Amino acid sequence: EKGGYDHYMLKEIHEQPTALRQALSGRVNLDDGTADLDLEFPPGFLESLEEIQLIACGTSYYAAQYAAGLLERVADVRASAQLASEYTFNGGRDPWRTLTVAVTQSGETADTLSALRRASGAGVRTLAVTNTLGSTVTREADDSLFIRAGPEIGVAATKTFASQVTTLALLSLFIGRERGTLSAADARSALADLRGLPGAVQQVLDEADTVREAAETYVDASAYFFVGRTYGYPVALEGSLKLKEIAYDHAEGFAAGELKHGPLALVTDETPVLAVLTEGTRPAETLNNVAEAQTRGSPAIGIVDGTVETNALDVSFEVPSLGTATPLVANVYLQLFAYYIADLQGRPIDKPRNLAKSVTVE
Ligand code: F6R
Repeated sequence: EKGGYDHYMLKEIHEQPTALRQALSGRVNLDDGTADLDLEFPPGFLESLEEIQLIACGTSYYAAQYAAGLLERVADVRASAQLASEYTFNGGRDPWRTLTVAVTQSGETADTLSALRRASGAGVRTLAVTNTLGSTVTREADDSLFIRAGPEIGVAATKTFASQVTTLALLSLFIGRERGTLSAADARSALADLRGLPGAVQQVLDEADTVREAAETYVDASAYFFVGRTYGYPVALEGSLKLKEIAYDHAEGFAAGELKHGPLALVTDETPVLAVLTEGTRPAETLNNVAEAQTRGSPAIGIVDGTVETNALDVSFEVPSLGTATPLVANVYLQLFAYYIADLQGRPIDKPRNLAKSVTVE
């Protein structure tokens, strides 16, 4: 049932090329330069939209953070990711010009459902982005968009994160084209990048042994710091969450520029820094921040695509460049790294202590 893999998590990491093909299937319209999503909004709604609020928890929140950046850029609309457990609909905003998007793979997360109800109660139009047909979120939101990742059994979310970001990237292109803020040519180029994802992720999976070797080198570290900028930042946060969740080791994600504003005090030769240094992450500035940690003895592990010169890194993992989708490919290295760090320590990877797959209490 685990298809020859030791854990569901590893199986699901390896299912990502298939999951991504499913997320994209029938939705990439290169002729018109748009995403074909089966979504109907009231006439004029998207054109007059002023704000998109994405609400989510945990890994889904990091996918939402990635997507908020995409929406701001391609759909030219104010977009923010908000933790569902902290969400309050700001009464000063015009509910008719707001769209609230609940991002939840299970569709059953209590915090997310409760935030969704706050938005609906204020008269805001809502959209569910989920993996689960017939889930509570699909019954309560005005519309649903499915990420089509297939069942995910490991408690740690892996393929659903990739499918969420990809589906939300399609949504940003759809909204950008509907609003007229994105040209067909720019949409075609972004769509081509998304279509490159399954192959690029496969290239990373083919390097799993080299990630295992790096994990063997660093498994005794006292803590792991993950850094990135722009789209690399939510990926850094996601990398650190995965590691702490399944390996029970201390891990933190930082916006790379914030290292010098405090966290640098934690850096020693026992704290590897993992950095996303690809297109879509302002790699040159991030590399400066990594160098600050390296000067203080910290081993530097980077995920690179040749955009900047990275000879000083202790370990580098390569990904192909796919525009703003590149950090999503980089994330697969972080998933594998967390997996092997946990596996080398014999952790119960598919069922980490104290955690449940679906969190149905607030
Ligand atoms: C982390 C993880 C959790 C979930 C969070 C939200 O690996 O799985 O952080 O992402 O509980 O779950 P959903 O997406 O079902 O709302």
